[in-house]
Amino acid sequence: MVALNLAAEMERLPPEAREILRMVGSLVEESRLPSGRLFLVGGVVRDLLLGCPCLDIDIVGEGDALSLAEAVARRTHGRLVVHKRFGTATVRLGEFRFDFAAARSETYSHPGALPEVRSDTLKADLFRRDFTINAMAVDLTVSRWGTLIDYYGGLEDVRKRCIRVLHPGSFVDDATRILRAIRYEQRLGFRMETGTARLLRRDLKMLDTISGDRLRHEIELVLGEERPERILRRGAELGVLQQLHPSLKGNGWLALKFPLVRELAGSAKDMPALYLSLLVYHLTPEEGGQLLDRLKVPGAIRKVVRDALEIKSEVSRMSSSALAPGALYRWLHLRHPLAIRVNALAGAPMVRWYLELFLRQLSLVKPLLSGEDLMALGVPAGSEMGRLQEHLREERLEGRLKTRGDEEALVKKWIERKSGGC
Ligand code: CTP
Repeated sequence: MVALNLAAEMERLPPEAREILRMVGSLVEESRLPSGRLFLVGGVVRDLLLGCPCLDIDIVGEGDALSLAEAVARRTHGRLVVHKRFGTATVRLGEFRFDFAAARSETYSHPGALPEVRSDTLKADLFRRDFTINAMAVDLTVSRWGTLIDYYGGLEDVRKRCIRVLHPGSFVDDATRILRAIRYEQRLGFRMETGTARLLRRDLKMLDTISGDRLRHEIELVLGEERPERILRRGAELGVLQQLHPSLKGNGWLALKFPLVRELAGSAKDMPALYLSLLVYHLTPEEGGQLLDRLKVPGAIRKVVRDALEIKSEVSRMSSSALAPGALYRWLHLRHPLAIRVNALAGAPMVRWYLELFLRQLSLVKPLLSGEDLMALGVPAGSEMGRLQEHLREERLEGRLKTRGDEEALVKKWIERKSGGC
């Protein structure tokens, strides 16, 4: 075991985080933990060694960690959430999240099952983890403050910049680790160790044992990374994408399009839907539907992806002949704007031109007469009024209505027709 001390690295944490860890260290002296030992574990240790920022801080105690989380929350006025069933607690402070848990080991009744958990030693707790670089701990006890605990060769793998599983059954126990492996590899600029890559390929089928929600969560994490296209490309190289759907590709096309999403997305919250739609862009609407079902993609994003694929399959209209503004509007106005944006990002220059015209101009055109104006002219409120407003909008788009007077004349005719019973 390597007796390295990370106290100096911990000094480089933001002051709020440092303060909490010191508090945790001193609270241990008073706490009811039988062994009195508490540790930083997992990603934060890896990030300390690499000098990367980390906002999620995992703390494991060999004993009762919940009372400690409660004490920390009390002293700091942090927001405490206790998960009694799992024996874990979270304290949120500013942008930091501190997760407290008792050391545990896990067994899996079958591949893909959620683990059965029981209290155990720190060594067992670290052994249940995904990769050696995520299976180190740092002692928070005052007398051993900062001591690195590395039973499984994590430090050497950080130095060699390599992703390695702790045991050959790791991907069988939890196939989400297949996606985690390529995510860390590409995020950190590491390389998967040969044996781990071989196990990953061997166990690709285990991805089929993972529930849609868990799989989608992992894909969301991939799409939340800085350069998801690199992870997807590596996923394609290793056969991971094909296992999710045989028609998925993580090729150079994504490498061209994903940076455009970062450049052009109006807001960061739109990026996952844009990325996902581009990822499935070359699938047929039917294949896209299969993948959306497999990943249990929820309503709002599902609508974006479905609309994107449907617009793509209808796009040939635009190349055949010029589209009048009214026709373009009728075609697209019920489609999700992000789905239109996806096609603008993905399509040929002519397609992009029409879609940008819709997004930037046509979708913003409104009748000059408001609902109140229409009521004042005698149009009853309700769905009829909605249809009349759409009609006014289309006539404006086609250039047949220019002034307020033109619109009033059309409305009057409409009322006459209605009252004439036609
Ligand atoms: N872990 C695991 N197997 C998983 C998920 C998580 O072994 N399928 C362990 C790893 O030790 C990981 C820790 O739980 O470090 C915390 O999980 P998570 O927060 O997902 O990972 P971080 O390493 O903190 O990663 P990130 O930097 O992506 O937040």
